[in-house]
Amino acid sequence: MRLASLALLLAFTLLAFNAGHILLGVAEGGSREQKVWASAGSSAVLPCHLHLRKTSKSWKQLPDKTSVLWKRHVGSPHQEPHMVLEVEYSGLRKAALPMRPRVSVQDSALRNGNFSLRIDPVRSEDAGLYEAQVAYNTGVHSCQVELGVITVTLSPPSPVVENEPLLLSCNSSHRASLVETCWFHNGHLVPTSRTFCALHGTLSILRPAVSDAGSWRCQLRYSDNEIISATYNLQILGFDGPANPVVYAAAGSSADLPCTLSNLPSAFGINVVTAHWSRFAAGHLQAQGISQNLSNRSFPLHLSAVGPGDAGQYRCAVSVGSKTISRDVTLAVITVTPSIQGPVSEGSHLLLICGLTHPRGHERFQWKHLDSVPTSSKLAVATSRNLEGHRSQTGPTFEIPRVSQKDMGTWECSVYGPEGRLGAVEYGLQITGAQTSGPPSIFSGQVTFWLTLTLFLLLTVCVLALALQKRARSPAFPALEAMVAVTVPKKKEVEENQKDKIQQTEC
Ligand SMILES: *[C@@H]1O[C@H](CO)[C@@H](O)[C@H](O)[C@H]1NC(C)=O
Ligand SMILES: *[C@@H]1O[C@H](CO)[C@@H](O)[C@H](O)[C@H]1NC(C)=O
Ligand SMILES: *[C@@H]1O[C@H](CO)[C@@H](O)[C@H](O)[C@H]1NC(C)=O
Repeated sequence: MRLASLALLLAFTLLAFNAGHILLGVAEGGSREQKVWASAGSSAVLPCHLHLRKTSKSWKQLPDKTSVLWKRHVGSPHQEPHMVLEVEYSGLRKAALPMRPRVSVQDSALRNGNFSLRIDPVRSEDAGLYEAQVAYNTGVHSCQVELGVITVTLSPPSPVVENEPLLLSCNSSHRASLVETCWFHNGHLVPTSRTFCALHGTLSILRPAVSDAGSWRCQLRYSDNEIISATYNLQILGFDGPANPVVYAAAGSSADLPCTLSNLPSAFGINVVTAHWSRFAAGHLQAQGISQNLSNRSFPLHLSAVGPGDAGQYRCAVSVGSKTISRDVTLAVITVTPSIQGPVSEGSHLLLICGLTHPRGHERFQWKHLDSVPTSSKLAVATSRNLEGHRSQTGPTFEIPRVSQKDMGTWECSVYGPEGRLGAVEYGLQITGAQTSGPPSIFSGQVTFWLTLTLFLLLTVCVLALALQKRARSPAFPALEAMVAVTVPKKKEVEENQKDKIQQTEC
């Protein structure tokens, strides 16, 4: 075979030289067998070139009647090879099943001499020996290429979701015996079980996280010192952000609990995604975020005006294809509890207690008096002034020993954790006048007093007018005068009786 082709080549070289119009160079490597490695799922190019050399009369043109036939050797060398692809000199193309949809040569092959066979995508069963026969005028040039296929197998198949155990294994069509397998993640060697490289190096990840996604390369070493490697781009569908997020919200404000996937589900070929929120203890909470167009990967839960009763653990469960992944989110509510309810009178001793429904034990609290004009300079002044007046505290309780008018306004309690400011809550302090023995109803008491006095005077005028009228007929009316005299100092009684009197004496 080799002898024959060599003889042919020699004959044609001589012929070409003598004819003086075309000189066909030998294809890269001549008819010497080449080896090409490809990983299953990617593309492979089996090279076969005819180099055209410029000659004195004609250049860079193949003879008119050039054609190519790619064949594949199957089984023993004596078996008839299978046809893969043929390009006739007319340009007509034929390809045989089962590789027909996946094989091609360049459209310009007959003009530029590139007869390389492209297989896209390669399958593990494509491994084997291929041969191209390029026929031109009266000669034939042959290219032999051995295709080796490396297969990376993922189990269970995609989509891989976080926390679901996965196995990656690697094999190849190379016939020598395997010595070891090594794995590299984003370029770094990764230990499989106890050692870095093992004979049957299946990579197992028990609890895959989104950070395990990326390029995984297996490197296979064989007894004949052949080293083959393949790369697999692993995608893991999980959630964005920390594993157990805590959302801090001030009582009365709104809160958005996050639930964002690490990737768009459509990137995994997933067509239906459903997000469902539930709350521990409270059970089923809300079904939401049924996304059909799949341009969405965020399914937050919006809570308006949260209270301490809303605090707790929530779960977002996202169904992607046949799998469900879930993430727990904790809602912590920040509250302020004053020691005195309602408006506070001047001079009182007031405690403001900043509370957190889900403390983790490392929180610090900072109290600030916010002026009505929230400019940063004013805020700083207010803060320093208050720190003079009241001791600087990091505990949850803020003490005002004697409340004064300057303490009126908005107080803010900020909660800090090791990671920084977690959230803040505001409290509006209302102050009334000087403190007396009477409870907070002093204000309404004063109003009652003046109202009573006014009504009493009105009543007196009415009564006097009536008395003057009656005096015209009867000389005296002592009972009423006596009653009036008695009522003056006892304003409370008047208050009680006044309604009846108004009805009686409507004038
Ligand atoms: C030859 O053709 C193949 C595809 O059929 C292509 O991948 C390759 O780059 C080409 N080679 C040259 C040198 O143009
Ligand atoms: C590699 O393993 C896969 C699955 O285990 C199998 O389908 C494939 O044929 C193997 N490939 C080779 C070249 O042995
Ligand atoms: C797809 O869904 C997103 C979010 O649910 C929405 O904002 C967007 O308008 C939708 N797009 C289409 C084309 O329906």
